[in-house]
Amino acid sequence: MDSFIELARNRFSCRAFKNQEVSKELVEKVFEAARIAPSAVNSQPWIFIAITEEPLKKMIAATYARSWLETAPVIIIACGDHNRSWRRSDGKDHCDIDIAIAIDHITLAATENGLATCWVCKFDTMKCASLLEIPAHVTPIALIPLGFPAEAPKADRHKDKRKPLNEILFWEGTKF
Ligand SMILES: Cc1cc2nc3c(=O)[nH]c(=O)nc-3n(C[C@H](O)[C@H](O)[C@H](O)COP(=O)(O)O)c2cc1C
Repeated sequence: MDSFIELARNRFSCRAFKNQEVSKELVEKVFEAARIAPSAVNSQPWIFIAITEEPLKKMIAATYARSWLETAPVIIIACGDHNRSWRRSDGKDHCDIDIAIAIDHITLAATENGLATCWVCKFDTMKCASLLEIPAHVTPIALIPLGFPAEAPKADRHKDKRKPLNEILFWEGTKF
């Protein structure tokens, strides 16, 4: 991939993975992109837990209702530490924003390295926290399956399934 836009276009939500191991070195290469991600006041409130071994992987996958998650050789639990994240003077906690940026770096770096991912937020966060003994000030925000894709993205997915530019970018203001 020669350009950022090509990389961004190639990322897709993969829901079927090859039964092929991903080396620790490759996972760590991908996570370098998370390590250098920006965060509010550089608070870096992220904690990533990588699960590869059974039976724990199966138990984590079971916190989500769809069985395809189990096909991923690696499941990342992306967590936010609310004791570290920045709160604005109006009280807004920026933890989720910071974690989302780091996850986006991961999904793009994974794509660049021939891997695939999918954001999964519709999981049982309480069960996940309990399985991993995650303390109350840390929230599991998303599960990110990581592996070699066993499916290809639909070629025209950015045509019909995305809003056109004139519905998202407004010059000098808009009516709400
Ligand atoms: C915050 C967030 C949460 C998501 N949660 C889920 C989920 O629980 N399960 C799932 O299958 N996909 C989930 N997705 C994937 C979206 O459905 C997907 O990104 C969207 O349909 C666009 O498709 P694409 O990623 O292939 O471009 C989530 C995506 C985001 C950004």
